[in-house]
Amino acid sequence: MDPETPVIQINDLHKAYGALEVLKGVSLNAPKGNVISLIGSSGSGKSTLLRCCNLLEDSQQGDILFKGEPVTWKGSHHGRRPSDPKQVLRIRTNLSMVFQQFNLWSHMTILQNVMEAPLTVLGRDRAEVEQAARGYLDKVGIGDKCDVYPAQLSGGQQQRAAIARGLCMEPEALLFDEPTSALDPELEQEVVRVIKDLATEGRTMLIVTHDMKLAADVSDHVIFLHQGLIEEQGPPDRLFGAPTSERLRGFLSATHAT
Ligand SMILES: Nc1ncnc2c1ncn2[C@@H]1O[C@H](COP(=O)(O)OP(=O)(O)OP(=O)(O)O)[C@@H](O)[C@H]1O
Ligand SMILES: [Mg+2]
Repeated sequence: MDPETPVIQINDLHKAYGALEVLKGVSLNAPKGNVISLIGSSGSGKSTLLRCCNLLEDSQQGDILFKGEPVTWKGSHHGRRPSDPKQVLRIRTNLSMVFQQFNLWSHMTILQNVMEAPLTVLGRDRAEVEQAARGYLDKVGIGDKCDVYPAQLSGGQQQRAAIARGLCMEPEALLFDEPTSALDPELEQEVVRVIKDLATEGRTMLIVTHDMKLAADVSDHVIFLHQGLIEEQGPPDRLFGAPTSERLRGFLSATHAT
């Protein structure tokens, strides 16, 4: 792949739930190694945009490209669906999603949680996957929790396990949807630290967050969504330091970011 080709590229994406238009023509580029944060009020379409990226949601119009490869569609408008299940699987397994609520399997140990998808979805060798899984759990600071169940961990530890699970797929990019919102402030910092380490390593990440400090600290580019459209975007210093749109200024003062 040409190193200039973005990992994820979205052009003029439109998405509606029935009559409710949620994305009204959104475009974004996630170049390799970049961290892009999506901010905006509740209901502005941030989660929907993230879920469209890895094809968890259908969209009605616009293009989605993964490493320069356009998603192929059949049908149109509300009947539009990806036409190639193998392509969908390839894209989805290359974009690991980390959710607000961790979504770990409660009946599996932490190690089993991290190993599950590489074994069953990618069909990788068990011994290699186990070694990698232990390595990723060490990396996020819970290498000693391999054999316990999710209910025995704090929220911050569970979220770090979910990040290790995402990493163990060896994805091209990580997509985070409010990874720290369900956590108490001190546990939140454990997760923020892991995300900052991943940013420093040059991971490609798309992060939906209400944490303006996190967005300011880790992002190469910040996108402010308002009612399904990009109202303003730019490098974090500019966006947080000198917002031009009235709506962004209002949003930032409401979140105490300025
Ligand atoms: N499955 C669904 N069916 C119908 N409407 C939905 C669905 N999911 C989201 N919506 C609507 O789409 C709009 C955008 O939702 P979305 O979850 O993308 O917002 P968000 O920016 O992530 O908000 P928040 O900050 O609260 O998480 C909202 O009006 C929401 O009610
Ligand atoms: Mg959301």
